[in-house]
Amino acid sequence: MSPATGRIPPDVASLADYERHALQRLDAARVAWLQGGAADGLTVQANQRAWQGLPLQPRVLRPLAHGHTRIERPGLRLPHPIMLAPVAYLRLVHPDGELATAMAAAAQGAGLVLSTQASVPMERVAELVLGEAERGPLWFQLYAMAQREHTLQLVQRAEAAGFEALVLTVDAPVQGARDAERRAGFRLPADVRAVNLQGLALPGMAAADAAAPGLAAGLCGGLLAHAPTWSDIAWLKAHTRLPLWLKGITHPLDAQQAQALGVDGLIVSNHGGRVLDTMPATAALLPAVRQAVGPEWPVLVDGGIRRGTDVLKALALGADAVLVGRPHVHALAVAGALGVAHAIRLLRDEFEIALALTGCATPAEVSSAVLSSAVLTS
Ligand code: FNR
Repeated sequence: MSPATGRIPPDVASLADYERHALQRLDAARVAWLQGGAADGLTVQANQRAWQGLPLQPRVLRPLAHGHTRIERPGLRLPHPIMLAPVAYLRLVHPDGELATAMAAAAQGAGLVLSTQASVPMERVAELVLGEAERGPLWFQLYAMAQREHTLQLVQRAEAAGFEALVLTVDAPVQGARDAERRAGFRLPADVRAVNLQGLALPGMAAADAAAPGLAAGLCGGLLAHAPTWSDIAWLKAHTRLPLWLKGITHPLDAQQAQALGVDGLIVSNHGGRVLDTMPATAALLPAVRQAVGPEWPVLVDGGIRRGTDVLKALALGADAVLVGRPHVHALAVAGALGVAHAIRLLRDEFEIALALTGCATPAEVSSAVLSSAVLTS
């Protein structure tokens, strides 16, 4: 692995350029960990292709003078609709890891969801960014631990540190079949650890993002004995003063159940295609989830967002905002905090252009009318 230079390569004009540079710098095992999806990687591909395949319909001569990118909804206020998704172990690609990512997010007003499996202490991330005036929200991603008191310890630490919401990831009670990682022999190096989980008993969860030794033996008798259920959601809701989001909801009935339990919002996600291969792209799953929960309830989406036009399309299909996962890691690997800040800026600029060219002054004006029924490619 060649270290990040801290400089932005001159030929970087899009997130795909950061990806290309990152793949040249990282060793094969890290590439397999970062890029890989479950099994044949079909859902990973489908995520990106689904956004790409939606044609946009321009509108002209509309008043755009007082436009802005702010999201102003009950329960969700953002400078722009781009957030950074939780990704484990960022020190695998850069020595500053999550600290660099958090600084970049704060500088660019992007919301940040810190992974449970961050490789730096959560308190250090919070200290670093909470004072920044222009920052977006700082949320903590949580996996249910094998024992509730351990989950509670994490929740209380996140509350005390100043995190502003909890995001419980519910789509990975077991690790997916991560063939690419196994082929590449990926192992966590000794100096990169999930430092916030030290001393806590892990259930199947963390396996989804960790260097777990393949499919865990004895799934039904072992890991799944601790897999969270809806009763854990009600329990968690009762034990935190923070808003609670669920990440990894894709079925309309699950969305309604979350809503009925008083969850504060949800993230339509297939974990970037890393858990259950051949599940549909999130672009295909989002509209039914939005319809199930009604127009007012906060819904975010992630998976395959690589262009500002993708962000616009996600809003058109019912999301209030998006998260990006792999792209911020590519930029971190290439140019550290500067790279991540630049990548967010590129995506945000692209989004503003797409907004204007489809005749929308603000995100609130985006509707399905920006999508064309014409076919993009034959
Ligand atoms: C993830 N993701 C993830 N999600 C989560 O809730 N907790 C975690 O610790 C991780 N870790 C993680 C590691 C790596 C290497 C990847 C690629 C992804 C999933 C992540 O939050 C998000 O859902 C996807 O990455 C979104 O898809 P894109 O943007 O990567 O296509």
